[in-house]
Amino acid sequence: MIRRNFLGVLTGSSLSLHPGLKLLSDEYLSEIARLPAGVHPAVLATDEDYWAQVGQAYTTSPQIINLNNGGVSPSPQIVQDAVERYNRYANEAPTYYMWRIMDQGREPLRENLATYAGCSAEEIAINRNATEALDTIIMGLPLEKGDEVVMTRYDYPNMLHAWRQRELRDGIKIRYAALELPVENEEQIVQSFTAQMTSRTRVVHITHIINWNGQILPVRKIAEEAHKRGAEVVIDAAHSFAHLDYKIPDLGGDYLGTSLHKWLSAPIGSGMLWIKREKISKIFPLIPNDSPRSENIRKFENLGTRSFPIEQAIGVALKFQEAIGNQRKEARLRYLKNYWAEEAAKLPKIKLNTSLDHRYSCALAHVGVEGKEASEIESFLFSKYKIHTSPIKWEALNGVRITPHVYTTLKDLDRLKEALYQLGRG
Ligand SMILES: Cc1ncc(COP(=O)(O)O)c(C=O)c1O
Repeated sequence: MIRRNFLGVLTGSSLSLHPGLKLLSDEYLSEIARLPAGVHPAVLATDEDYWAQVGQAYTTSPQIINLNNGGVSPSPQIVQDAVERYNRYANEAPTYYMWRIMDQGREPLRENLATYAGCSAEEIAINRNATEALDTIIMGLPLEKGDEVVMTRYDYPNMLHAWRQRELRDGIKIRYAALELPVENEEQIVQSFTAQMTSRTRVVHITHIINWNGQILPVRKIAEEAHKRGAEVVIDAAHSFAHLDYKIPDLGGDYLGTSLHKWLSAPIGSGMLWIKREKISKIFPLIPNDSPRSENIRKFENLGTRSFPIEQAIGVALKFQEAIGNQRKEARLRYLKNYWAEEAAKLPKIKLNTSLDHRYSCALAHVGVEGKEASEIESFLFSKYKIHTSPIKWEALNGVRITPHVYTTLKDLDRLKEALYQLGRG
């Protein structure tokens, strides 16, 4: 039923294959949103017909199987087309179309992002990536010599580097929570953070989903412990935003940064910063404007000349996300991960370094093979099976990270299972 309805949209007599882009995208999005109405996300997660329709929105490579969607996600065709369309406008008269016309799109986009994220538009700044968003906080927080920051050695390198630069420059001190991955004990995770909190702790930096192996951390519980001790909380949501179903305020943080070119499938080079309203004035912008002490979140958007086409096309990606729905997407991503990982974990030489418990993981998983280096596994998967993954050797992890996306098919994952069987059988 779903399939017939949907194909009707693509090939029906009222629409040619190349109708006006707007018409196709609006019809397409409303079909994606409408067809599974009333179907429980966990049931829909197994409906290959529905997800095949969603997958048609993407222009995936026919040559390789991309299972590194964790690095950067591709954008659906409608998003790519929007970037190109805006770019063509921009190039007709850049300063006119960018600064007088497209610039007017930023406030509606801010509103839409805020509605999606469950916060006020006055708390959202639009920028280019998670690094820029989080560095704004890390570099902008007023801290003094001897102040302490708690984080883990599994946080993202750019963020570790930024905090270490403050250590070097300002004499703050980083204390590392002794996290061991994977971990399936919420108390233990929280405890690893609280064990490092002291009377000097000013900031706790938490990565919601650890990029190396997909570990989900209980952000809210850690944040509560930090707040009890008077510390502020910075959340790295690069991998959780538009991947897990939540509203930003529910996480209990004070500051949050994310890329939008990961799970939102927005154009490459798009990101977002959220700051709790009452904290805005005390953060100095990374790139200052004329009033760095202002309470206006827009002071963080003084980025110099940047791509308006990329920024404006974020709105199209947001529509696509909302058409699928957060809960449906999260359920499907977890289903895809478990589809391959549950079987792989049973192979004698395979070491799955990611929990299969839904509280601790979703789409991303890390897998090692006894006696093999990360680079060997990656190169075997690519050369023999044309499966593209990310080799990860970091702290105790040595293997590849496998990340499907909503367009990934079970056929792709069957090929992965076959490849892992070759690597992991006794
Ligand atoms: C956990 C985490 N934080 C931050 C980043 C930085 O994202 P970007 O390169 O988009 O700035 C990444 C990128 O992979 C990440 O995985």
